[in-house]
Amino acid sequence: MQKITTVSEMQAYANDLCARGKTIGLVPTMGALHEGHLSLIRLAAEKADVVIVSVFVNPTQFGPSEDFNKYPRDLDHDLELCEKTGAHVVFAPANEEMYPKGYSTYVNEERVAKPLEGISRPTHFRGVTTVVAKLFNIVRPTFAVFGQKDAQQAAVLMKMTADLNFQVEILVAPTMREEGGLAMSSRNRYLTNTQRQEALAINEALANAKTMVEKGERRVDRLVAEVTHMIGEKRRLRVIYAAIVDRRTMEPAREVVPGEVLMVIAVWVDEVRLIDNMIL
Ligand code: PAJ
Repeated sequence: MQKITTVSEMQAYANDLCARGKTIGLVPTMGALHEGHLSLIRLAAEKADVVIVSVFVNPTQFGPSEDFNKYPRDLDHDLELCEKTGAHVVFAPANEEMYPKGYSTYVNEERVAKPLEGISRPTHFRGVTTVVAKLFNIVRPTFAVFGQKDAQQAAVLMKMTADLNFQVEILVAPTMREEGGLAMSSRNRYLTNTQRQEALAINEALANAKTMVEKGERRVDRLVAEVTHMIGEKRRLRVIYAAIVDRRTMEPAREVVPGEVLMVIAVWVDEVRLIDNMIL
């Protein structure tokens, strides 16, 4: 496995692969890799000749009061995991490579990015779409893999790819969960044991909503109320939003159409902000 740290070297490498007709699978990450990330790499390895994992803690997607400086970084460990999982290249550029002095161009998706996370984190998706557009131009992937864990991110990136005519197929892989059901996240490492225990209620509430739908419940307000109530029973949890939305547009659903809508949720666990979702 090779580590590449400059944009020019990554572009030369990708151009050579494209000229030789190889398919490239890209897995964009911010590092601190866990089983969730590794499942995306495995999926890419099944389908591509060459798997490229990017590891870049993207400063433009963090708000001023967010955890950019505190975000966990351990490149050596990430490289080991990528190699073991079947990646061929890790692209790990420095900030100045991606955003050199005087950088001034941003990509904005203006609809799917607006609600939910877009309300709590108004500049977040602008950073995500910008960095992913850059990665598409640098790596020239045949396809890119994203996680259902960040459902709105995947929907925004699908919209950007279609709107800007990127010739990249977007694949979305299922959410990997810890034993007990907590969705894997790099931020889980900030949780104490008690917080982690209480955070299990997030997945339990989502699973309960899914069961209610399976038993015939179709009323959005009833399901949202039930989820909010179950999470509200925990002392350390605060619901930021809980909503049922169309899985592609992220617009509020009027009623539950099984398989077409998502229950999306963001929760404060004391000071740690977690998101999760479930297809109903
Ligand atoms: P990061 O949080 O590192 O996540 C990288 C990818 O892993 C994303 O597509 C995310 O949805 C996926 N992922 C995270 N947890 C997962 C889980 N439990 N199961 C399955 N997939 C999971 O998302 C980002 O980085 C950044 O915004 C990025 C797209 C790299 C742009 O900077």
